[in-house]
Amino acid sequence: MKNTKQDLRSWLTLLEENGEVQKVEGAEREVEIGGIVDIHQRKMGNPAVLFDDIPGFPRGHRVLANLLTSVRRINLTLGLPVDSSEITLVNYWRKYMKETPMIAPKVINGGSVLENVLKGKDVDLWRIPTPKWHEHDGGYFIGTACMVIMKDPDSGWINYGAYRVQVHDKNVASVMTSKGKHGNIIMQRYKERGEKCPVAVICGMHPALFMVAGLEMPYGKNEYDLAGGLLGEPVEIVNGPVTGLPIPAHAEIAFEGWIHPDDLVDEGPLGEWTGYYAGGKKLEPAIRVETMMFRNDPILLGAVPAVPPNDDTFYRGTYRCGAVWNQLEAAGIPEVKGVWAHEAGGSRMWLTISIKQLYGGHAKQAGIVASQCHAGAYANRWVVVVDDDIDPANMNDVIWAMCTRFDPREGAEILRGCWSTHLDPMVYSEDDRRNARVVIDACRPFNRRDTFPVVARSSRQLDDRIRAKFKSMLPRDA
Ligand SMILES: Cc1cc2nc3c(=O)[nH]c(=O)nc-3n(C[C@H](O)[C@H](O)[C@H](O)COP(=O)(O)O)c2cc1C
Repeated sequence: MKNTKQDLRSWLTLLEENGEVQKVEGAEREVEIGGIVDIHQRKMGNPAVLFDDIPGFPRGHRVLANLLTSVRRINLTLGLPVDSSEITLVNYWRKYMKETPMIAPKVINGGSVLENVLKGKDVDLWRIPTPKWHEHDGGYFIGTACMVIMKDPDSGWINYGAYRVQVHDKNVASVMTSKGKHGNIIMQRYKERGEKCPVAVICGMHPALFMVAGLEMPYGKNEYDLAGGLLGEPVEIVNGPVTGLPIPAHAEIAFEGWIHPDDLVDEGPLGEWTGYYAGGKKLEPAIRVETMMFRNDPILLGAVPAVPPNDDTFYRGTYRCGAVWNQLEAAGIPEVKGVWAHEAGGSRMWLTISIKQLYGGHAKQAGIVASQCHAGAYANRWVVVVDDDIDPANMNDVIWAMCTRFDPREGAEILRGCWSTHLDPMVYSEDDRRNARVVIDACRPFNRRDTFPVVARSSRQLDDRIRAKFKSMLPRDA
């Protein structure tokens, strides 16, 4: 079947055209695929990696990882000019949150995901070359860059989220949803009724669909509508043969089945987004798989959580910046000029806010609100506020501001008892999932702003003149 705008293969072609994908042949799935991804993930801007010729699997059964760990690839996914800056991307998300239309999905007849359909005893999840992503993982996680689709039994609301999915047997998988996540709430509703919960898992699709899966969308909103808005067209779906759940028609790999009340299996551990193995082995709901569907030569997507930067968090950081910026403005903070969630903080633990200071206390106000607004509060550790001459996405400049404009006597606030998670290694305790954090004011002191030493760097006007005249003699990314 031909590639469509909303399938993974058209995205892969786009990456190839822009030099954003590295092909690797012959790596095995036990440690080598994970090991290669780990090395690629250590530096931002490394290409996505497409594995083929995986020992023990037919040629063409592929794995694609390190997906959205670069601003360039996120830009390509969203249809932005490939070299748009970090802050342009953040502004795209700000606008998306306020203005993007919701476009409902469209059921079509047939779809490439139905090229191979295995039912009942023929289901075999081991046909997919799911890697062990890290050496100490408890098993094979087929669902990392995935969509787990469920339907609310009362309202019929369709929700999908990225929740990790482990393979346990040819027709048994498990899903791990944290408390409060929409998938967890829906599962509980079926359990309260004593009914089995229908579920579908998608493990290879256009990354725009995956992006939406990992973003906290409001309760009751159908992620398919939001993904349609992002793609600019309805997501084409087919109904799962057994559950009737909507499945992207051009997905690479999908399976569906049931979660029965109190049917639990040992799950984990998996290396997590904070850079640590967290949670250990725990009992989680089993998925009894009834139908498995895949395209010819299927491609498994992997978004591997690990020491940041990692694929689990980087793209979400760019979205979070937009959300924090909007929430700062909604709280009445004027003149916010940029927000950046540094990749080393896994999108949550480090936020830099740049402002044009208007009054004494403005910087502290911005920092404390950023550290407590809904989009910024969970698992944060550092908020740094800088002046608007500092690019918040340029860590060198941020650290320079911290070194030269920060007064430790006045500029640091420690906040205690804040919202965090058991994945935060510095959470108070297993039973008390709060943390402490710090807000740093690294802006020039407001009352000395006119007498503060002048910065020893060319003015913007001189920069522009030099660039125009000597372009070919300057560094490529100057
Ligand atoms: C790659 C990736 C893996 C994730 N794994 C999990 C997970 O295993 N369990 C979980 O509860 N949330 C996980 N998340 C976070 C959720 O996907 C995210 O909070 C999402 O908003 C959940 O959807 P919901 O808001 O509809 O509940 C993951 C996110 C990403 C991007």
